This record gives sequence, C-alpha cells and structure tokens, in this order.
Amino acid sequence: MPAKSATARTVAKTITPRKSKPPASKGSVMVGGKARYHEPAPTGIDLESFRKVVISRRSVRKFTNKPIPKAVLDDCLDMAMLAPCSSGLQPWEFYVVKSADKKARLVKACMSQIAAKTAQELIVCVARTDRIDDFSKKMLREWPMPDVPMVVRRYYQLIPYAYKPGPLNSFALMKKAAFTVGGLLGPVPRGPYTASEVKLWAAKSTALACENLVLALRANGFDSCMMEGFDELRVSKLLGLESGAFPIMVVAAGERADDGVFWPQLRFDRKLFLHEV
Ligand SMILES: Cc1cc2nc3c(=O)[nH]c(=O)nc-3n(C[C@H](O)[C@H](O)[C@H](O)COP(=O)(O)O)c2cc1C
Repeated sequence: MPAKSATARTVAKTITPRKSKPPASKGSVMVGGKARYHEPAPTGIDLESFRKVVISRRSVRKFTNKPIPKAVLDDCLDMAMLAPCSSGLQPWEFYVVKSADKKARLVKACMSQIAAKTAQELIVCVARTDRIDDFSKKMLREWPMPDVPMVVRRYYQLIPYAYKPGPLNSFALMKKAAFTVGGLLGPVPRGPYTASEVKLWAAKSTALACENLVLALRANGFDSCMMEGFDELRVSKLLGLESGAFPIMVVAAGERADDGVFWPQLRFDRKLFLHEV
C-alpha cells in the first residue's frame, strides 16, 4: 500500500460527512416464493432539469473569482463517488489541491492552461489498481446486508486473482493463454489481464466518477473543465503517488466567466455513432 501523502491526509481531514448518501436498504419483496431485496425506482424526477444540467455542461476554460462553498464541493464529490464502478471496487481517489504552493505547481504541470490558472478548485482524479485486494476484503466485511450471499463471497475471493498481472505480466500472460484456449469452447473473460489493461479497468470507472462530478457541479451552478493535458509524472510526484495510482484527469472548477466558454458546442451527426443491429 502506498503511504498516504500529505495532500491525501489534508483532504481526508477537511471533508465533511456525506450529504448524498447511497440508497440504504429499502426492504424486501417476495419473488417466486423467496424474499428478495427491494429498492423501488423513484418516480417524479424532473427530466427537464436533468436535461438542462446535461445540455448546459460545457468545458469552461475561464472562471470568475467566486469560491465554490466547501459544502457544495463536498456534496459534488460525494455524488461523483456514487458513479457505477467495475465490481463495485471504487478504484478512484480525488485530491482537492488546497495548498497554494501545490496549486501553483499543479497549474504549471497542467501546461499553465487558462482553465487551470483561473480555477477556484483543482481536483486531481486518480485511478488506483493497488487497492483491489484490500477493497475486495472490505466489500465482504462491509456487505450491506446481514448475510453475504455465497456467490458474492466467492466472487470477491476470486477477484484479486483475476486482476493480478503478476511480475512482468507473468500471471497475465498465463491467464491470457488459458482463456484463449478456453475461448474456443465458449465465452470467456478476455481481460483485464496485463498491468496496462488493469490500469484501463480503473480509469474507466474513475472517468465515470469524473462525469458525475462535473454534472453535480453544473447542477449547483458551477462549471468545470476536464483536463488530461498535464504532465502525469509531475502531478504524481506533487501528490506523492506511488505505483498503482495514476492521475487520469485534473478537473478545473469554478463559476463560469462571461467569456468562459470559448466556442459553441459541436457534435457530429448522430448517424455516425448510433447503430441498431
Ligand atoms: C478526457 C478529457 C480530457 C480533456 N482535456 C482537456 C484539456 O486538457 N484542456 C482543455 O481545455 N479541455 C480538455 N477537455 C475538454 C474537451 O476539449 C471538451 O470536452 C470537448 O472539446 C467538447 O466540448 P464540451 O465539453 O464543451 O462539450 C478534455 C475532455 C475530456 C473528456
């Protein structure tokens, strides 16, 4: 386990308890003579407000000097962490960079982009591949029902092996060979096996959390710019990240300046992207 950096400790200290709690257990329902967990789908959600949030989110590259209230940012971060995540393993971390010195270094590492320079908050979004073992165990310890179903227990006992590439990808290559042969007989998992595939695995879920974060900011009247234009090595050093933790995005956030959106949004013809098969 990498040692926690000073920044990580600062964030952990200052973040207030969750406002947006994950839905708690709602009760049970009988299905086919068996009691099943029941969480009803909420109704009455204002679709037009949701659409407004999605449509009005733009990459904002210039911010005013209005601060984002701490409670608002904390709530947005909590909503970020409600994003779906592969195997429920939450492979993300968010570093809210507060120290003036670290902020200045981070702006530089972001190639001094205007969005970074004018942002009220800079949040480094980190994907982690080094907590799979720990979090699989944690999942079983903190399972949100009185009994952990056997299938769940087996799954989280297996997962750490499934995602372990081994030294120089040795386990990964063995698994790949075995599953390639197995795959001749029927469907098999085709990854993630190698270290880079596991990194991609963590980055996918972390990017979903980033999207939740920017939408939550928008819903609160603030804006953001996702940035991957940064020096990964410098950002990792700045945060004291060790191997197994990768900054995948820096989110610049604040209030949109009048000239904060640089040009109208362009999306190509939907026919290029949508297929019915
Ligand atoms: C993964 C990712 C990385 C990005 N990196 C940068 C960046 O470094 N600098 C920047 O100005 N915009 C960056 N953007 C913003 C995109 O340029 C922007 O989303 C795109 O042009 C579409 O504009 P819109 O977000 O306003 O719809 C990034 C967006 C994503 C999703």
